[in-house]
Amino acid sequence: MPYVVTDNCIKCKFTDCVEVCPVDCFYEGENMLVIHPDECIDCGVCEPECPAEAIKPDTEPGLEKWLKLNAEYAEKWPNITVRKDAPADAAEFDGVANKLETHFSAAPGEGD
Ligand code: SF4
Ligand code: F3S
Repeated sequence: MPYVVTDNCIKCKFTDCVEVCPVDCFYEGENMLVIHPDECIDCGVCEPECPAEAIKPDTEPGLEKWLKLNAEYAEKWPNITVRKDAPADAAEFDGVANKLETHFSAAPGEGD
């Protein structure tokens, strides 16, 4: 039962989450992070750290597509363990609906 990163991370990518994860299981894409579901120990400490409230336990209903996306891209993107500055326009994208359809990028981020 891992935690998953969901839609509101896209284009916000505040990265506060990576600093608190005890097992360093966040992976960085160009526009968002994901959690590796096989590495997450379900501790829950990252959830309240996200200013965009984008991290959810996968016990919440309707998160199947996000669990699949987190699992897929955690295998493709580089690991990130250190916080970095959010995009300059992050605040403008906080709360925008359906960013997966309009702003998701499969390109990898830089990682640490
Ligand atoms: Fe890391 Fe815990 Fe968040 Fe899982 S729930 S991603 S182990 S901080
Ligand atoms: Fe994304 Fe929130 Fe982390 S916006 S990068 S899940 S702090």
